[in-house]
Amino acid sequence: MQMPNLVPVRSKLPAAGTTIFTVMSALAQKHGAVNLGQGFPDFPIDPALIDLVTDAMRAGHNQYPLMPGVLALREAIAAKVQRLYGRAYDPVNEITVTTGATQAIFTTIQALAHPGDEVIVFEPAYDSYVPAVQLAGATPVTLALTVPDYRIDWEAVRRALTPRTRFILLNTPNNPGTSVLSAADVAQLAAIVRATPIVVISDEVYEHMVYDGARHESLARHDELAARSVVIGSFGKTFHATGWKVGYALAPAALTAEIRRVHQFTVFTVNSPVQHGLAAFLADSSRYEALPQFFAQKRDLFRALLADVPLDLLPCAGSYFQLARYGRISDEPAAMFAQRLVADYGVASIPLSAFYRDGTDHRVVRFCFAKREETLREAAQRLARLSAAVASGGKRG
Ligand SMILES: Cc1ncc(COP(=O)(O)O)c(C=O)c1O
Repeated sequence: MQMPNLVPVRSKLPAAGTTIFTVMSALAQKHGAVNLGQGFPDFPIDPALIDLVTDAMRAGHNQYPLMPGVLALREAIAAKVQRLYGRAYDPVNEITVTTGATQAIFTTIQALAHPGDEVIVFEPAYDSYVPAVQLAGATPVTLALTVPDYRIDWEAVRRALTPRTRFILLNTPNNPGTSVLSAADVAQLAAIVRATPIVVISDEVYEHMVYDGARHESLARHDELAARSVVIGSFGKTFHATGWKVGYALAPAALTAEIRRVHQFTVFTVNSPVQHGLAAFLADSSRYEALPQFFAQKRDLFRALLADVPLDLLPCAGSYFQLARYGRISDEPAAMFAQRLVADYGVASIPLSAFYRDGTDHRVVRFCFAKREETLREAAQRLARLSAAVASGGKRG
């Protein structure tokens, strides 16, 4: 029996319900569906990484590590970032290890944003951004990215600037938009913020999932932008271990100092053996350099498997998601279509409308292709039944 509630409760996030990921994962379980909804891999992580973490535990790395993170891991992150993006972040003063990218984003915003500050957020957006801004008492200003390519309209950004704009929160490669920033985009961003006090928060958790010969335009590459940016990464995404929740924030020393002031009173520090294991694992650069090709193969396989399914696949320049329009099958809202897809066809996806605060609905759903080949084949086989629904003239209104 539930306890009675005897105290008044005033929610700080009254609009926040259960996230769509939880809802769709629960539905996937209920219907025995192939779960291409939530973004996590179903293949195992590298056994060498498990060994290194186990070794760290056996070696006694089981007590509180340093507040900003195990130094060996911060040094390994610095070496990786220098190798890939050519910037030498100082492991002592410019790198902080966090409990996943989500905590890095949350802590950065709590540390730096004040009531009255405006934070530009692009939608569709990862669902933690807006609540993090709201909890800091700041104001989210949302700009829409739109179907089919979800790219930033820099003129719209210019128009949205006010004297109170203090942050631009970016995500490249973009989830769920699957777009990536180009060098030209980065140049536009630099020009826009040049004469302003704006700090850029750059969520780059999908940095290793950029395709078709393009390179990841990390803000770490760019002298001017790096000097006013917090660049955020995630080992959960990079090494297929989303349940480990270890990420990091790279930022100039003055910003890092503020981020750490809040970090020390939220999580204080991040679990020790995983940090030691990751530090040792990162010593071999082939472990991350092979990732773009690995994920490109999955993307290409999944797209090929869906070639005859009456879904219109949107271009996927980055991330491990594939977007699809379903207008040939149905006119119903994306949330309804996604629920029908899981209940009647046994495949879970995420409706893109869930990533817009106002529910903007371009009739698009998102599939995660970070899955084993047999999972992708099974999903495609189930989705192939959509052809029969179209052939029988059963388009839903
Ligand atoms: C854009 C984006 N940022 C951050 C995260 C979360 O990263 P982490 O699991 O390291 O907190 C996700 C996870 O889906 C994401 O899609």
